[in-house]
Amino acid sequence: MKKQVAHVLLGTLYLASIYTVQAVNYSGPREVLENQPWSIVCTGLKAGEKIIWTRNGQQFEELSTGDIRVFKPEKGVSELKSDHATELHEGSYKCTPNSNESFHLTVKTVTKIKVLTKDDVPLKLECENHTAGEKVDWLKEGVPVSEKFAEKEEWVKVTDGVLTFFKSDHELHGNYTCNTTANVSSTSFFRVVPKPTAILQKSVSVVEGEKLTIICKGNHHPGIKIMWEFAGKTYNNSEGRVKLLTDEERGINRAVLNVENIEMNDRGNVTCTVAYDWNDTANHMNSTVSLLRVKDKLAALWPFLGICAEVVVLCAIILIYEKKRNKSELEESDTDQSPDTKPTPNKDSDVRQRK
Ligand SMILES: *[C@@H]1O[C@H](CO)[C@@H](O)[C@H](O)[C@H]1NC(C)=O
Ligand SMILES: *[C@@H]1O[C@H](CO)[C@@H](O)[C@H](O)[C@H]1NC(C)=O
Ligand SMILES: *[C@@H]1O[C@H](CO)[C@@H](O)[C@H](O)[C@H]1NC(C)=O
Ligand SMILES: *[C@@H]1O[C@H](CO)[C@@H](O)[C@H](O)[C@H]1NC(C)=O
Ligand SMILES: *[C@@H]1O[C@H](CO)[C@@H](O)[C@H](O)[C@H]1NC(C)=O
Ligand SMILES: *[C@@H]1O[C@H](CO)[C@@H](O)[C@H](O)[C@H]1NC(C)=O
Ligand SMILES: *[C@@H]1O[C@H](CO)[C@@H](O)[C@H](O)[C@H]1NC(C)=O
Ligand SMILES: *[C@@H]1O[C@H](CO)[C@@H](O)[C@H](O)[C@H]1NC(C)=O
Ligand SMILES: *[C@@H]1O[C@H](CO)[C@@H](O)[C@H](O)[C@H]1NC(C)=O
Ligand SMILES: *[C@@H]1O[C@H](CO)[C@@H](O)[C@H](O)[C@H]1NC(C)=O
Repeated sequence: MKKQVAHVLLGTLYLASIYTVQAVNYSGPREVLENQPWSIVCTGLKAGEKIIWTRNGQQFEELSTGDIRVFKPEKGVSELKSDHATELHEGSYKCTPNSNESFHLTVKTVTKIKVLTKDDVPLKLECENHTAGEKVDWLKEGVPVSEKFAEKEEWVKVTDGVLTFFKSDHELHGNYTCNTTANVSSTSFFRVVPKPTAILQKSVSVVEGEKLTIICKGNHHPGIKIMWEFAGKTYNNSEGRVKLLTDEERGINRAVLNVENIEMNDRGNVTCTVAYDWNDTANHMNSTVSLLRVKDKLAALWPFLGICAEVVVLCAIILIYEKKRNKSELEESDTDQSPDTKPTPNKDSDVRQRK
């Protein structure tokens, strides 16, 4: 009896050791400015434990490009590091799947985003902290604007530190910087983008209890804000079973709506709304709707059950038919065969005997 109790105790201890979640600790700044370096240190890893860094529950591409790197400064410690924070680095990090805690990194953007459409011209970008009369250098993707648009002088002009667009053309979209040097040396970052659009598939069907995954596509550039409406509630961030994930392929945060365990009540309109600035929605916001259909869990089973029923009915018919046929054959053999067959052996034997 005592032995049995000991065994049960040992068994539960063993199970507990398997299912115990790893108590790792994270340290590092939780908020970082765009373009600045950051690092997250994970401590308390057990010897031999696999280190797999994930962001929002997924492995991330920047590890293979070297944009984010992993270091192992000492035993049980893993450090995640980047020299330049980008908006895509924002999210919840874990160093091991066993850890139930995660570390949320927020990237504060310094890039000012301006939508350039023909309704926006002339559009002005002002270099921060420039002093009157100071010459400032405006660059587009590292090339001086004066050089880049040398043959299109009427499109853009720089006057007293202000860059003005007089035309809306896709060639003008891109990343701009300006440097001041006179009393404070500082750099301002701008991104000039086309009007954002939101595109969803017309409708989507999910079986009750399964997962909904829908991607908001369209003309999006880093810095786009995406708001979702699902089951009558709006979401700017993940909450409970509703997750707003990064579209890794396009590098757009929150463009993927992911909802676990879809219920019948969830059916209806799913809305994706996009804008770069919720205060500037005049004609710089777009929105679209998809119809979510939720299928009965058994609905998928009906065709199968139908086939089963068909097979049963067929089998029944065949059985009944066979039974009937056997019966009638028996009856036939009782009536027809007896006069024909029964006497023959007798006759034969008679004949043989006679021979
Ligand atoms: C994690 O931090 C807590 C509180 O700061 C501390 O009590 C615990 O020992 C730490 N665990 C590890 C594995 O460092
Ligand atoms: C992690 O697990 C511990 C112990 O099981 C629990 O107290 C804690 O609330 C969990 N944390 C999260 C974020 O789930
Ligand atoms: C630049 O210098 C002038 C005079 O020294 C000063 O008044 C002004 O505040 C400075 N500008 C900035 C942005 O620091
Ligand atoms: C502008 O910067 C963003 C973020 O770094 C980048 O994804 C994009 O490709 C850049 N645009 C151009 C035209 O280089
Ligand atoms: C502008 O400033 C940045 C950062 O201070 C510097 O790296 C860059 O070389 C400067 N560019 C020019 C054209 O002065
Ligand atoms: C402009 O100056 C202010 C005050 O010195 C500073 O906080 C800010 O970062 C500067 N802007 C840029 C783009 O450097
Ligand atoms: C989401 O952001 C928009 C714009 O800032 C705001 O109007 C709305 O209330 C927010 N929704 C939630 C659920 O926070
Ligand atoms: C769902 O969206 C469609 C198309 O925009 C609209 O006609 C319909 O009224 C919406 N239904 C509800 C319940 O909001
Ligand atoms: C948007 O407007 C609100 C209230 O008018 C203001 O507090 C907020 O700073 C504004 N946001 C931006 C990005 O301009
Ligand atoms: C979204 O953009 C498309 C394409 O520019 C346009 O046809 C549609 O009317 C816009 N919808 C809203 C709600 O702004």
